[in-house]
Amino acid sequence: MHLFRTKPVEALGDDGDATAADVGRLRRHLSARHLVGFGIGVVIGTGIFTLTGVEARDTAGPAVVLSFALAGLVALLAALCYAELAASAPTAGSAYSYAYATAGEVVAWVIGWDLFLEFALGAAVVARGWSGYVGNLLDLPPSLFGEESTVNVGAALIVVLLTVVAVLGIRESARVTGALVVVKVAVCVFVVVAGAWFVRGANLTPFVPASRPAEENGGLAQPVVSAVFGLDPVAFGIGGVLTAAAVVFFAYTGFEAVANLSEETRRPGRDLPLGLLGTLALSTALYIGVSLVVVGMVRYDRLDRGAPIADAFDQVGVGWASALISLAAVAGLTSVILVDLITVSRIGFAMGRDGLLPPAVAKVSPRTGVPVRITLAFAALVLVLATFVPLGTLAELVSIGTLFAFLLVSVAVIVLRRTRPELHRPFRVPFSPVLPGLAAAACLYLMLNLSIETWLRFLLWLVLGLLLYAGYGYRNSRVGARAAGAGVVRERVQDPRGS
Ligand code: ALA
Repeated sequence: MHLFRTKPVEALGDDGDATAADVGRLRRHLSARHLVGFGIGVVIGTGIFTLTGVEARDTAGPAVVLSFALAGLVALLAALCYAELAASAPTAGSAYSYAYATAGEVVAWVIGWDLFLEFALGAAVVARGWSGYVGNLLDLPPSLFGEESTVNVGAALIVVLLTVVAVLGIRESARVTGALVVVKVAVCVFVVVAGAWFVRGANLTPFVPASRPAEENGGLAQPVVSAVFGLDPVAFGIGGVLTAAAVVFFAYTGFEAVANLSEETRRPGRDLPLGLLGTLALSTALYIGVSLVVVGMVRYDRLDRGAPIADAFDQVGVGWASALISLAAVAGLTSVILVDLITVSRIGFAMGRDGLLPPAVAKVSPRTGVPVRITLAFAALVLVLATFVPLGTLAELVSIGTLFAFLLVSVAVIVLRRTRPELHRPFRVPFSPVLPGLAAAACLYLMLNLSIETWLRFLLWLVLGLLLYAGYGYRNSRVGARAAGAGVVRERVQDPRGS
């Protein structure tokens, strides 16, 4: 049962854990404004700039707007759960730490390992997207900046550059992220306002095109839900709207990075709920606005698959806006990579502090307040992945990893309300357990809409993680060491001769 040993909520953060002294502490520099900056920084990226076109064209029609709204609703439910836990237990590890307090160590490890997948793989996928966009924008050789390159020099460059920013300090990273966020939000607002002039009612009718069988998606590429219930995958109609919601959910992933900055937030009880919910409110509003305008400007079956927003402006004869939008996409992708790198290092830091990873790698630099070694370790991993591995098909893995973490967080809210009713909760999810229960069910539903091959890859990753846990974390856990220490003391008291 040692596998399910838990860590008290009070010991999760920096203040409660005396054994954390040798690892060092992060610095509290951030306010709610910074948190929304980081949140928008990591959320708005490839999702809105690419998926809108593919999903409107192939799966949902103009009703892709409803898919964005639905996915936003699921993300909002999860964000409410994150806000409750992050405000009550402000700790760098977020979902990993909440699981440690509720479900036990092995589940916490699985979640931490899962979050590595979400943020490290996310950074690598987006770095390759960045390279492609910049290559196009500046007309650079595709053999160095394109998806067909053997060594993706562009992706490597951006990872190295952003690692330097991440290592400089959280304040410096907040400044860079803030500037990039201003560019991308301004361009999204521009798309909505300028694009609104070109919206034609005819493009929006029928809003939900009639349902028909999906063209491909057989075998391992079909959603789990189709295979399990023997349903044929459909395109368009309400079924299409739901399928597209699972895919565009990717556009909302990452907002929980805000919860990982808890130990660097000045007033976590107030600012974390504001940061999480503010990020989500702003991105949902922008996504609905942008997707509505784009499907209103160009008939859904004529949208471009690669760069639908820039291309829509081209199609209505406003070519100059295209370059502006590509620039915003590049700014957007840059901040996603930066926040991904920062987040994955904070999760690794929390796991190192708990002894599940070697504590030496979690050490915080006394000069910059950044866990430099773990940041560099993850940056090296991201660098290798981004430079050499064509990751396009692995993007769904980022979504399944995120949804799995959301599911666990929603369940953790319900469990902690029962096991620790007296815990001080500066923010409470309304209508618990109904809303957290709904959040969990919605996440599971979206997970089931992802393909069988994504599930298989995900399970493989989890098995690899469990092997590592058995080989290292289980033996070196600090919670385990403390429990063993207490056991020795108890034995000595019962048998003073120590025999
Ligand atoms: N949500 C981020 C994006 O859409 C990962 O790029």
